[in-house]
Amino acid sequence: MNSLTINTSSRSYPIYFERDFSALSKSIKLIDKNYTSYVIITDSNVQSLYVDIVTEEIKSLGEVLTVSFPAGEEHKNIQTISKFYEEMINFKADRNTLVIALGGGVTGDMAGFTAATYMRGVDFVQIPTSLLAQVDSSVGGKTGIDFNGYKNVVGAFYQPMFVFINVGTLRTLPFRELYAGMSEVVKHGFIKDKDYHNFLRDNVKGILDLDEELLIQMIQRSCEIKKSVVDEDEKEQGARALLNFGHTFGHSIERLMDFKLIHGECVAIGMHGGLTLSNQLGYLSDAELEESIQLIKAYKMPLTVKGLDKEAVYNELFHDKKTTSKRLVFALLRTIGDSFLNQDTIDEVTVKKCLDIIIEE
Ligand SMILES: NC(=O)c1ccc[n+]([C@@H]2O[C@H](COP(=O)([O-])OP(=O)(O)OC[C@H]3O[C@@H](n4cnc5c(N)ncnc54)[C@H](O)[C@@H]3O)[C@@H](O)[C@H]2O)c1
Ligand SMILES: [Zn+2]
Repeated sequence: MNSLTINTSSRSYPIYFERDFSALSKSIKLIDKNYTSYVIITDSNVQSLYVDIVTEEIKSLGEVLTVSFPAGEEHKNIQTISKFYEEMINFKADRNTLVIALGGGVTGDMAGFTAATYMRGVDFVQIPTSLLAQVDSSVGGKTGIDFNGYKNVVGAFYQPMFVFINVGTLRTLPFRELYAGMSEVVKHGFIKDKDYHNFLRDNVKGILDLDEELLIQMIQRSCEIKKSVVDEDEKEQGARALLNFGHTFGHSIERLMDFKLIHGECVAIGMHGGLTLSNQLGYLSDAELEESIQLIKAYKMPLTVKGLDKEAVYNELFHDKKTTSKRLVFALLRTIGDSFLNQDTIDEVTVKKCLDIIIEE
C-alpha cells in the first residue's frame, strides 16, 4: 500500500494510493473505532459508476445508506445539505456512523461539511474520484458550500479519518475534467519542484494514457507538495498563498466568464498570466517562460480566453476574496520550482500587458 501521512494540529491521517477499491474495508478497520453504519454521499454521475462496488466492499461492516444529489457546483448549497441531514436523521445516523465522501471536489466539500456539523461532528473519509479532488482537496481539511452566489463562503476546517485515492476511477473522468485537474498538478511543479516539473514534462504521454504507476507517483508528489505548503502555514497567509499561483488572474476570468470555463481551465490561463508577469518583472527567464508554456500546452490546457473585456478583468482582480487590501499580491516564480509572494506594488501597465497576452480579441 502506498501512503502518505498528513499531520494537522488536531491529528494525523493517511492518504492511501490504490488501483482499485479492494483495500477499502481493510482501511476502515484500521481506524480504531467500531462504526455500526455508513452513509455514502455522492453525486448522480459517480453514483451510477461506483456506488455498487463501494457498497459491495463495505456492506459486511454494517448498514449502508447512499445519499445522492444532482452533479454540479450549482447544487453545492445549503438546500442540498439540508436533504442530507434529513436522510441521515431518517436513517438514524449517529456518532457511530462513518460518512463516506465518494466523488469530486463538490461532493468532498459537501460531505465534509455535513460530517463536520451533523451531531456536532461525525467521522468521515474521502474517496476523491476527480483528479482535482485527489490532488487538491485531499490535503488541507477545507469543507464547505456556496451561499448566495459566494463560493465556499460557509464552511469549516474538518479533517477526514483517511483519504482513499483509487487512480482507476480517473478512467471514467471526462477528459475536460482530467485536463483541468492537471493545471493544479502542473502548478505544483511550477511553485515548488523543478524535478517534478521535469517528470511531468518527460511523461506527458504516459500520464495522459492514464498509466496507473505514473498516476500514483504524480498524485502522491502533488499531495506531498500541497502538504509541505499547508504545513508551513495552516492559517493561509504566508506559504499557503503560493498555491494561489495562477489563481489571481484565474478567479477573475472564472467569475467574468460566468463559470462557463471550469476552474482548472481558468487556472491554466491564469498561470500563463502569472508566468508572463514573472518574466516581465525580470524574474523568470525567457527560456523558462517558454518551457513552462509548453508544459501547459502539452497537457492540452488553454493558454488564452476570448471575448472578455480587459478593463473588466483588471477591475475584477481586486474583488478576489483572497485579496486583503487594494493592493494586488501575486504569487510569482523566480525560476521553475521557486516561487514567492510579491509584496511590491505592480503598476497597472505591467499587469495590463499580461492581460493583453492572455485575453484574445
Ligand atoms: N476543499 C478543498 O481544499 C478544495 C480544493 C479544490 C477545489 N475544491 C472544490 O472542488 C470543487 C471542484 O471539484 P471537481 O472539479 O472535482 O468538481 P465536481 O465534484 O463537480 O466533479 C466534476 C465532474 O466530474 C464528475 N466526476 C467526478 N469523478 C468522476 C469519475 N471518476 N468518473 C466520471 N465522472 C466523475 C462529477 O460528477 C462532475 O460532473 C469546487 O467546488 C471547489 O470549490 C475544494
Ligand atoms: Zn485551484
